[in-house]
Amino acid sequence: MKRAKITIVGAGNVGATTANWCAARELGDIVLLDIPEAGSMPHGKALDLLEASPIAAFDVSIVGTTDYADTVGSDVVVVTAGVARKPGMSRDDLLATNSRIVGSVAEHIRDTSPNAVVIVVSNPLDAMAQRVLDVTKFPKERVIGQAGVLDTARFRAFVAAELGVSVKDVIAMLLGGHGDTMVPLLSCASVGGIPVTQLIERSRLDEIVKRTRDGGAEIVSLLKTGSAYYAPAAAAAQMVEAVVRDSRRLIPCAAYCDKEYNVGGYFVGVPVVLGNGGVQKIIELSLDDNEAAAFRKSVDAVKELVGKL
Ligand code: NAI
Ligand code: 2OP
Repeated sequence: MKRAKITIVGAGNVGATTANWCAARELGDIVLLDIPEAGSMPHGKALDLLEASPIAAFDVSIVGTTDYADTVGSDVVVVTAGVARKPGMSRDDLLATNSRIVGSVAEHIRDTSPNAVVIVVSNPLDAMAQRVLDVTKFPKERVIGQAGVLDTARFRAFVAAELGVSVKDVIAMLLGGHGDTMVPLLSCASVGGIPVTQLIERSRLDEIVKRTRDGGAEIVSLLKTGSAYYAPAAAAAQMVEAVVRDSRRLIPCAAYCDKEYNVGGYFVGVPVVLGNGGVQKIIELSLDDNEAAAFRKSVDAVKELVGKL
């Protein structure tokens, strides 16, 4: 069977670590691309990763490049190009710089990999996904933002630690933008099938939700020189896997919603079925009044940000 071709744009912390997860899981042949100003850095990281393959036992090709010619015909492109947060900065502070960078990346993707599914990671995530859709004019199903897999992973990790159980048994769902207004759905969170609200007191759950919302800032304040990358990269790789293996994962992703949830044409986090071709279905949940109000607030925050593009 022909292996998938996966291009990762931006060979920085998230990009290189995504390449690592994708290679280790043999998701496809990998092209790791950065700007010419990065010199031979992407080549060095790709070669280093390739040299790990006999030890970690993965058989894929890994190429570093600064030339889009090497990316032609990619099946999946992961966009991690741009600048990351430093302490004191919000994701939204990155808007002007990253919209310029992501706009130019999107033009290259449109011209070199017209059939690709594009997974956007660069922040501010929901606005950058919109930028990619606007520039590529790809079908909306083929442009998806990574945020919910990371945000729910943080929540799942905190709940598992609280209860002293395996992370594998904690399930969670979340709606809204990748920002302070994200809406974790406690009604959809469970541990081994048991509603989380039966296992953890509401006041403690509220603290866990707050820590989840502030999860990105918590890592920034610890790292001091940049933002999170192990978990974001693992999240992006899970989305790549769903697409190249058509695994039809029901996971939260930033998807273009128009009539869905009455969003009106913006990217927001919603439950989707992700597989071959990208978003195969958006799942519409019935929300209670509090959840609906929080979701609307989150959508308004995304709209305001996109308005500044
Ligand atoms: P980084 O600074 O380590 O890497 C960014 C890379 O992009 C650099 O190597 C840089 O040379 C490259 N780059 C800049 N302009 C480019 C262009 N036009 N074409 C190709 N490459 C270009 O940053 P890091 O930590 O990898 O983060 C990348 C982005 O991902 C940031 O915007 C960050 O905020 C975002 N992010 C989003 C997350 C999410 O959940 N959606 C989670 C973590 C990070
Ligand atoms: C995060 O949530 C910075 O968006 C990134 O860690």
